[in-house]
Amino acid sequence: MNHTKTDINKCAPIGFFDSGVGGLSVYARFKEVLPNENTIYFGDLKNMPYGNKTKEELIGFARNILDFMKSKGVKAVVIACNTSSAIAYDIIKDDYDFKIYPIIQSCAKVISSMSVKNIAVFATQATINSHAYKTELQKYNPKISVTEIACPKWTNFVENNMLSSKECTDDIEAKIKQALTSNPDKIILGCTHYPYLINNLTKFAPKEIFIDPAEIFVKFIQTDLKEKLNPNKELGNEEFYVSAAPENFMNNAKLFYNVKNCKLFS
Ligand code: DGL
Repeated sequence: MNHTKTDINKCAPIGFFDSGVGGLSVYARFKEVLPNENTIYFGDLKNMPYGNKTKEELIGFARNILDFMKSKGVKAVVIACNTSSAIAYDIIKDDYDFKIYPIIQSCAKVISSMSVKNIAVFATQATINSHAYKTELQKYNPKISVTEIACPKWTNFVENNMLSSKECTDDIEAKIKQALTSNPDKIILGCTHYPYLINNLTKFAPKEIFIDPAEIFVKFIQTDLKEKLNPNKELGNEEFYVSAAPENFMNNAKLFYNVKNCKLFS
């Protein structure tokens, strides 16, 4: 096939990354909307969970993955991870010549313009410590009140297949009770692993109260990349990589996406 230089860039893959399967909650939504884009997904299982890592470690992980994406010739990278968006994005954003999309900063404008006064956020310890959600939401709507709640065990519940355990149910019940004391209009699932827990969460609060930012995020990327979307109509090529435990990744991924093949890269 003959491509012009611009077409080659349009056909280049879009990279996605997260500490594990969590980013697939964004990736699955993306593939529903833009199935013909070529994509590369990276799950950093060797360093999972990100939520208890230091700033220096998180910046290092992000750089390694972005260097890998660069070597793959991507046209953009989606940080399908709130923790990395909160901690690493600002530091690394100007070091690459492709567009980088962080989930928190890309969704804050839309979320803050919803008719909500009082919002709660469930996220990893690192994201909560950074106050990234509060800062970004109040940037667009200074009147919005934001209650930030760390859920340090939840990523492990998802990655270790513990969704039906009593420990998982009890911890979720406790966090929901804590969130409801501030009487929130909405609760943001501020970690891409948390949509996997939706059946557990809805035992204690109505489904409508939760915001999974994935849909807003994908719309934002689609609009922003408009001029660079792949003009080819056939289904995009998909590659999946992990830095450890490919079988675990493929098993846990099943709830969200059918990953047919996954390679180890570290
Ligand atoms: N899924 C990620 C996030 O959105 C990271 C969770 C973790 O590894 O602790 O923050």
